[in-house]
Amino acid sequence: MTNITKENFDKAKNFYNFDTLYAPVLPGLKATVMKHQDAITDAFYKELANDEIAAKIVAGRVDQLKATHKVWMEELFNGEYGEAYFNRRYKIGETHVKAKIAPYFVEVITSSLRRSFAQILVAEGAVAVQAALAILDLDAMIIIGAYHEDRMHRMSDVTGMNLNLLETLMSFG
Ligand code: HEM
Repeated sequence: MTNITKENFDKAKNFYNFDTLYAPVLPGLKATVMKHQDAITDAFYKELANDEIAAKIVAGRVDQLKATHKVWMEELFNGEYGEAYFNRRYKIGETHVKAKIAPYFVEVITSSLRRSFAQILVAEGAVAVQAALAILDLDAMIIIGAYHEDRMHRMSDVTGMNLNLLETLMSFG
């Protein structure tokens, strides 16, 4: 791991004013969301099963994946979003990278999760929806960050170029 994803995570939290506006709201939404967790998780894997490639990736382990998805969702609303949270979420990202799951799937399924959360939380008011989407976006940013870092590492391995130099060359300043 380099620091780029962690730096972006911290910057994004500041950008949204996440710790002040949204982190304190999230634990209060946990009971409502978890009441619908089975339905959200079922919809998540049903959508993946509708895609020929994604269906093959999850085949034979949907029950086990549903269990980890429940833990993931509980943690989303725990109210603690510091270093330990980041490290756990980054490891989830690395798991998907190692499983060679195209990041496209993470992006489209995150979009489905956004719609599920919005539907469930709309009755709780705008801030509830905003808070849930804010943490979901941070999680997606971490997973996609793990893909970025993996690509940079592989490029560095192939070219022999130093990682920091590669990041500098790829950045817009
Ligand atoms: C926002 C999107 C996603 C979230 C939050 C998520 C969540 C998780 C979590 C919490 C784990 C367990 C990780 C671990 O134990 O380290 C996991 C593993 C896994 N996920 Fe996802 N997932 C997402 C997207 C996807 C997609 C799009 C696919 C397939 C197309 C997928 C397939 C898998 C597979 C196959 C594993 C097990 C990998 C292994 O153990 O080798 N996930 N996911």
